Amino acid sequence: MIIVTEINELKKLLNNKTAKIGFVPTMGSLHDGHISLIKKARKENDILVASIFVNPTQFLAGEDLSKYPRKDEADKKICEFCDVDYLFMPDITTMYSNDEVLVKAPKLNSFILEGECRPGHFDGVLQIVLKLFNIVNPTNVYFGKKDAQQLSLIRQMVNDFYLDVNIVECEIVREIDGLAYSSRNVYLSKNERTEALKISQAIKLAAKLIGKGELNVDIITKEMQRSLTSEMISIEYIHITNKNFKSIKTVEIGNTIVLVAVKIGTTRLIDNIWI
Ligand code: PAF
Repeated sequence: MIIVTEINELKKLLNNKTAKIGFVPTMGSLHDGHISLIKKARKENDILVASIFVNPTQFLAGEDLSKYPRKDEADKKICEFCDVDYLFMPDITTMYSNDEVLVKAPKLNSFILEGECRPGHFDGVLQIVLKLFNIVNPTNVYFGKKDAQQLSLIRQMVNDFYLDVNIVECEIVREIDGLAYSSRNVYLSKNERTEALKISQAIKLAAKLIGKGELNVDIITKEMQRSLTSEMISIEYIHITNKNFKSIKTVEIGNTIVLVAVKIGTTRLIDNIWI
């Protein structure tokens, strides 16, 4: 594995017009969720690039940018072990200059759900993802379905900007007890970690109710609210939408996402299930 910090160096190394390039962009602190993306990308491509860059522009003032978990040395070992060819680890001044052209996320889809709780977050995500796509010029890029709205907005950007990139969406990976892997799970105290199980349990409850024929969104949402009730949890949202993130009254099997965002202490966690 070659670790690259400079854009021109990576571009030179990737200058093989016929190879299929798989790309897994990350903010590091790699866990089994990332590893599943990397392994899938390894199987499906000739050259595998991963990136680690904690992107400042997608963090809002007061969010956890300065204390975002970083474990570069362990991440390098994971990437090496997963047979990554090139690990791109640029610094901030390599990726950003002052007063640059900005990408704006579309109004409708970026000001609901995550965008409502974190206004401007998706502008920063799209800005860095576009830069990374232009540097790596990948054939296939791998994203997890846990960040459902991010995935959808990246797809829209690929479409709207006519980018020649195939977006591969990958299933959510969970710890053995159901908690979805997230780099932020390390913030949880022992008690908070136990409480966090309520998130995946609420998601499972929704799936179970739907499986039994309950399609009324209000009823399912109320049941989920009840199951998430805890002194340690503050619910940011429970939304059941169609796959274009439009509100629905009745679950449409095959076209529904159940999404949850909560805060446990100071840790913000999201999860979802695609029905
Ligand atoms: O999902 C993430 O880790 C980040 O939002 C991404 C796509 C790497 C952009 O910084």
